[in-house]
Amino acid sequence: MRVLVTGGAGFIGSHYVRTMLTGGYPGYEDAEVTVFDKLTYAGNRANLAPVAGSPRLRFVQGDICLRADLDAAVPGHDLVVNFAAESHVDRSIHGASDFVLTNVLGAQQVFEAALRHGVRRVLHVSTDEVYGSIDEGSWTEDCLLEPNSPYSASKAGSDLVARAYAKTHGLDVSVTRCSNNYGPYHFPEKVIPLFVTNLLDGEPVPLYGEGANVRDWLFVDDHCRGIQLVVEKGLPGEYYNIGGGRELSNRELTGLLLAATGRDWSYVQPVPDPRGGGHDLRYSVDYGRTAALGYAPRVSFEEGLALTVQWYRDNRAWWEPLKAAAATAHRPAAQDPEA
Ligand SMILES: NC(=O)c1ccc[n+]([C@@H]2O[C@H](COP(=O)([O-])OP(=O)(O)OC[C@H]3O[C@@H](n4cnc5c(N)ncnc54)[C@H](O)[C@@H]3O)[C@@H](O)[C@H]2O)c1
Repeated sequence: MRVLVTGGAGFIGSHYVRTMLTGGYPGYEDAEVTVFDKLTYAGNRANLAPVAGSPRLRFVQGDICLRADLDAAVPGHDLVVNFAAESHVDRSIHGASDFVLTNVLGAQQVFEAALRHGVRRVLHVSTDEVYGSIDEGSWTEDCLLEPNSPYSASKAGSDLVARAYAKTHGLDVSVTRCSNNYGPYHFPEKVIPLFVTNLLDGEPVPLYGEGANVRDWLFVDDHCRGIQLVVEKGLPGEYYNIGGGRELSNRELTGLLLAATGRDWSYVQPVPDPRGGGHDLRYSVDYGRTAALGYAPRVSFEEGLALTVQWYRDNRAWWEPLKAAAATAHRPAAQDPEA
């Protein structure tokens, strides 16, 4: 089995790769993995350091928007899992072009290359943000797509292109839509790692508005197990929600992060929410369809958060250079999780 993981040097993709190469997915213990990644600001080869010595890992620097890069890398693979994306909502508000380019055109190029080179199975990783915002209840995969940010609109576009490649060309591609991930190796511009690293350093944290936004939190390992299950059992052209089953307002989340780092509310600075119409109040997914394949989240939020905070305590050498570089580049530090 040869697996190509696009975006495999990012937060979630690298978790999938590390897990696969350390025998975490039964039946894939011998899989050879190619990580194909452009290494944008969010891509980091250090995320693959724990498996860098594996003879079954190969790294290719390439851009999913470029046919030539894909043609050089895709042939010979049985499975492509596409994590590659511009993933930060706030950045998409400041500039949407890279989002449309990578998330829509790039995904289409991945599907086209898979078709051209006879890849047997493709999994496209998407987000629950494609559904918009929901006041009550939870989205099933049949709900309307009502994306509100350029990020989520671009992901919705890629989901529809995936479906079209399944229906028109018979590509065996399934799409997963997950809620907000957290865990180790999460780039410190996103809310949990930003808050945790600030608080560990005794720095204040910016809470948007009243902190009323509600998100469902999914530990990255649970997400990746869900992806692998859909790889193995999902149907072509179908969408599969993956959730963590734990909804928290940003205010509740902040309270838990303060407690986990031994800080109090004096470290919290309320700031005006910079996002306009692109700001969704609540996300909630019904993951019954994926549960029917055997999926259930295993890691409680308390357990996952403790593990995550400990990882950031133990791995300053990973995140300090990233924060220093972000400060120099004057990038917008932001707080939606996938934000
Ligand atoms: N993080 C979350 O909470 C979350 C939630 C829902 C969905 N998702 C989706 O999961 C996927 C992975 O998210 P993540 O949090 O790991 O993102 P990330 O930003 O940490 O990683 C993205 C990776 O893609 C690479 N990349 C970007 N553009 C590329 C291109 N043109 N060609 C090749 N590689 C490119 C980057 O270098 C990086 O390694 C994304 O598709 C995202 O939309 C993430």
